[in-house]
Amino acid sequence: MASPTRTRSTFLTRYACGEPLTEDHFTTREHDVRELRANEVLLQTLALSVDPYLRGAMTGLDRYYIPQFTFDRPVHSMGVARVLDSRLDGYAAGDVVLGAIDWSDVSVLSAEEIAGRPVSGGALVRLSQPLRPLSHYLGVLGTTGVTAFFGVVGATRPRRGETIVLSGAAGGVGSVAGQIAQLLGARVIGLAGSPKKCEVLTKQLGFEAALDYRSPTLTDDLLALLPNGPDVYFDNVGGAVSQTVMSTMRKPARVIECGQIASYDDPDGGWTIDIRPIHQHGLRLESFSPSHYGEFRAGAVAQLGHWIDVGKIITLDTTYHGLKTVPTAFLDIFRGGNVGKSVVLLDSTVG
Ligand SMILES: NC(=O)c1ccc[n+]([C@@H]2O[C@H](COP(=O)([O-])OP(=O)(O)OC[C@H]3O[C@@H](n4cnc5c(N)ncnc54)[C@H](OP(=O)(O)O)[C@@H]3O)[C@@H](O)[C@H]2O)c1
Repeated sequence: MASPTRTRSTFLTRYACGEPLTEDHFTTREHDVRELRANEVLLQTLALSVDPYLRGAMTGLDRYYIPQFTFDRPVHSMGVARVLDSRLDGYAAGDVVLGAIDWSDVSVLSAEEIAGRPVSGGALVRLSQPLRPLSHYLGVLGTTGVTAFFGVVGATRPRRGETIVLSGAAGGVGSVAGQIAQLLGARVIGLAGSPKKCEVLTKQLGFEAALDYRSPTLTDDLLALLPNGPDVYFDNVGGAVSQTVMSTMRKPARVIECGQIASYDDPDGGWTIDIRPIHQHGLRLESFSPSHYGEFRAGAVAQLGHWIDVGKIITLDTTYHGLKTVPTAFLDIFRGGNVGKSVVLLDSTVG
């Protein structure tokens, strides 16, 4: 392939805090690909992950816990890319790499830019052949799956027979976390935003039960299933759903806080919870991040890969195609448009 001279990239055009983002907050423009300098790689993007945490980097809040995207550089997220040309030691044309990749068809990344992107741990990792489906590197074997793994194995540590209510259960983290909890002997009840998603949880993933959290009778629905309340609430969403679940829990019980997506459009970037049910029910609230378990990440990825290979974990993906779909794929996460891990494929020849 001749070295491309033009590419398209997607940029954030303005921040949104206290209101939802829309497609209008993004623009995709064509521009030149600059010439490769020393310590740089030329990448063709193959797949991009869209993840809720990106929302925090689009608030314009300096004090958010991750740096804000600027309007002069493409947005970036975890992705898989093919090296087209390299002047960076350790990489050669033809390599397929995993790292923090620009929302661009083709991009040039310097060693400094690669090292400065916290989401990838500052690394561009060469993937060994034969490749798995690209969605696996971004989903079940990527941060999504590793979050589920450490959220269950590290933070929840379920005892056999314990009951876990899991929100965001049909999403990337939730669908894997629920399956791992079941492998460890827990009874899993998933919460999701439609009857169709609930059916996926019970029929495809074998969850004991699933409830549509949009039901006006959610409290009664939960109590009908679990009159004494669950032992654990694994919280992927926060907001009103979590306040309801925490109000039905047994005393004592524990809440494992994974994410608060329901609040990310709130003023001040969200993350605010009402701790009254925690006080009232004597709940233990614990949060976690896979970065707290960095030393164990390779082992977790190997275990997840084994579970996929032997059919003990079923992978669910929602796939979009082409760079222009990236903003919609990202925003659909907040609209509940995905089942399992959301991934955008840019090149149909691999994965
Ligand atoms: N602790 C960590 O280090 C870590 C790492 C990765 C992700 N996370 C967090 O984990 C959660 C799940 O992430 P993910 O990547 O797997 O995303 P995801 O679950 O695949 O997608 C988000 C899902 O959240 C649900 N949702 C959106 N708005 C909601 C609302 N207002 N109330 C209830 N549910 C809502 C939607 O499903 P429905 O159709 O069911 O509404 C949507 O499909 C997020 O909160 C994320 O920030 C944390």
